Amino acid sequence: MLTPATEESIAAAAALLRDGHCVAFPTETVYGLGADATNARAVAHIFAIKQRPSFNPLIVHIGEAAELADIAEHPPAAAGALLRAYWPGPLTIVVAKRSRIPDIVTAGLPSVAVRLPDHPVAIALIRRAGRPIAAPSANPFGYVSPTRAEHVDAQLGERVPMILDGGACRVGLESTIVAFTTGEPTLLRLGAVSVEAIEQIIGPVRIAAASEPVQAPGQTPRHYSPSVRVSLIDSPAEVPTMRRDDAALLAMGPVDDADGFARVCILSPANDLEEAAARLFACLRELDDSDLRHIYAIAPPQAGIGRAIADRLRRAATRPA
Ligand code: TXA
Ligand code: MG
Repeated sequence: MLTPATEESIAAAAALLRDGHCVAFPTETVYGLGADATNARAVAHIFAIKQRPSFNPLIVHIGEAAELADIAEHPPAAAGALLRAYWPGPLTIVVAKRSRIPDIVTAGLPSVAVRLPDHPVAIALIRRAGRPIAAPSANPFGYVSPTRAEHVDAQLGERVPMILDGGACRVGLESTIVAFTTGEPTLLRLGAVSVEAIEQIIGPVRIAAASEPVQAPGQTPRHYSPSVRVSLIDSPAEVPTMRRDDAALLAMGPVDDADGFARVCILSPANDLEEAAARLFACLRELDDSDLRHIYAIAPPQAGIGRAIADRLRRAATRPA
């Protein structure tokens, strides 16, 4: 059920969570499908609703930074420096876990992913529930993450007892994930907290290569995918006129040479990459619901949040094996 987030509905959602049910809620990145992270049965519902392979570990959301100590071992200094700079915010750290977090949350890994979201509804919900909340993005496994409550409702509405509606997500891409489980900080997923920003605080980070064993499902080549075919291009000139009439052109900012495309989506008329990121997933969903055959996406510049946008577009463009 889609419910506007109010003090009363947040209290009702917190009660559902304490009783072992799942609730969908907004964060600044994307909507999450939450359950009590200390209750293995409640967490099992998440996997059933998402039809997600159970070997994928979940992010545990906390309501204040001090709660990290209850679920994780004391983090390395670099992790501490990073979370002091970016919490609350779109940054997830992976650190050694404590036994309070059941194995189903971490898929048996000795580490746990933790995040303090920067959204008043998420924070209020977690605090009212009085426990850490495990939450993946609230979409069926492998599909585009939801950035509006309506996206959750359209796909999971019948299976989730409550969807708290907090409007459109400000960031629109999933959080940046940095693991501190080996001596070397490793970036597992690109996001709004850019590589440049992280390196300014903790020095060089390793970026996990696609060929490494999959630790994060966001690392699987095909992910965040609409069902319409997506191709990444550098310029509209690569698309001949005859291919344009059943195709959409998706661009970060204004473009020349958009003639003949059935649809043209300019994610940010002001050419602001943060605005483009915030609108990307909603736009992919909308194009997926149309009868277009192809989405041609112009690759953003490979810097700052542009790298995270390019990463999601590349995965969306990967054809099923
Ligand atoms: O922005 C976000 O992070 C959103 C909102 C709801 O907070 N959540 C999200 O969750 O994107 P999900 O489940 O779609 O992605 C979680 C990512 C996965 O790539 C997972 O493999 C990784 O976190 N992860 C979780 N625990 C891990 C661990 N112990 N080691 C390595 N990766 C881990
Ligand atoms: Mg996800």
